[in-house]
Amino acid sequence: MVKHTATSVVTIERFIIEQERLVPEASGALSSILYDIALAAKMIASKVRRAGLVDILGAMETQNVQGEIQQKLDVFANETIIKAMDHTGRLCAMASEEVPDIIPIPDNFKRGNYVLLFDPLDGSSNIDVNVPVGTIFSVMRKITRGADGEMEDMLQPGRRQVAAGYIIYGSSTMLVYTTGGGVHGFTLDPSIGEFLLSHPDIKIPTRGRYLSVNDSYEQFWDENVKALMRRYRGLDGHQKAMSVRYVGSLVADFHRNMLGGGIFAYPSNRQAPKGKLRLLYEANPLAFIAKEAGGAAYDGTEEILDVQPTELHQRTPLYIGSRDDIATAREFLSRQLATVG
Ligand code: AHG
Ligand code: MN
Ligand code: MN
Repeated sequence: MVKHTATSVVTIERFIIEQERLVPEASGALSSILYDIALAAKMIASKVRRAGLVDILGAMETQNVQGEIQQKLDVFANETIIKAMDHTGRLCAMASEEVPDIIPIPDNFKRGNYVLLFDPLDGSSNIDVNVPVGTIFSVMRKITRGADGEMEDMLQPGRRQVAAGYIIYGSSTMLVYTTGGGVHGFTLDPSIGEFLLSHPDIKIPTRGRYLSVNDSYEQFWDENVKALMRRYRGLDGHQKAMSVRYVGSLVADFHRNMLGGGIFAYPSNRQAPKGKLRLLYEANPLAFIAKEAGGAAYDGTEEILDVQPTELHQRTPLYIGSRDDIATAREFLSRQLATVG
């Protein structure tokens, strides 16, 4: 990989090309998908930045497939990504948190050999209160015959991803992605409208400072999860207490832990036995990034990247972040649960 110093001005376009040159058989299709995602990200960022000024705050009268009230920005981000991606000839289908079924490529556009799955706006509940939100995406190669993408192309284990990333619309807009050659972060310079390399080769600290969990569900957790959270909080005398940071946007909580080290946990609970977060376009892409940055992601039973998906919008428990903190989670969650007498 070309080594860049912190002062060299490297646009995301230049970086993608340099990365592509490292893969002799690369066709350039994946590079162009990443460019197009960066373009969509700039368009969403410009709306998010002015959310209070344009008619983009608040909720629609519609619900998404999850039964959640859609925010105007959810719908805008969803449409922006679809329109930026559907005509490029690189994709054979898409899937979005905001759309019940597979999104086909319109008949008049060429099909490609990749599928894109995405959460167009993560952390929707935070839009109106100006707390960071994000976009998460995952790219896989088509495995079925024929031109059009099918459900089987979407339902591949996370280990089959060829690219994954997120955009965080925070104090600055950052795009972080991996294609399997490490994790790289780019910061949008709004004065020139370019994503510039700001965080080359991000590595997540092996043990973290931060614990991100919504413990209002504590009463619904099983005993192993409760014991695990006591360990993270230093209440069982085995480790220093971690600082609790939870903003309610997975991308914001994950990004902070990527840079500062830590763990984000959304355990299964009696109210949500499969957890809340979605496997295909939240857990899988972030798990690929975490792994490439030296971290890990686990669902309480197995590695997130090994889970064989069965449904497009299936949910999963999620423990993701620093390697040693995930090892602690494995230790606690693999214990035999005392059977309720
Ligand atoms: P989305 O806005 O895409 O539905 O995602 C919201 C998710 C995730 O961003 C966050 O970590 C989690 O919901 C917060 O859930 P709780 O409010 O139950 O803690
Ligand atoms: Mn989300
Ligand atoms: Mn969302």
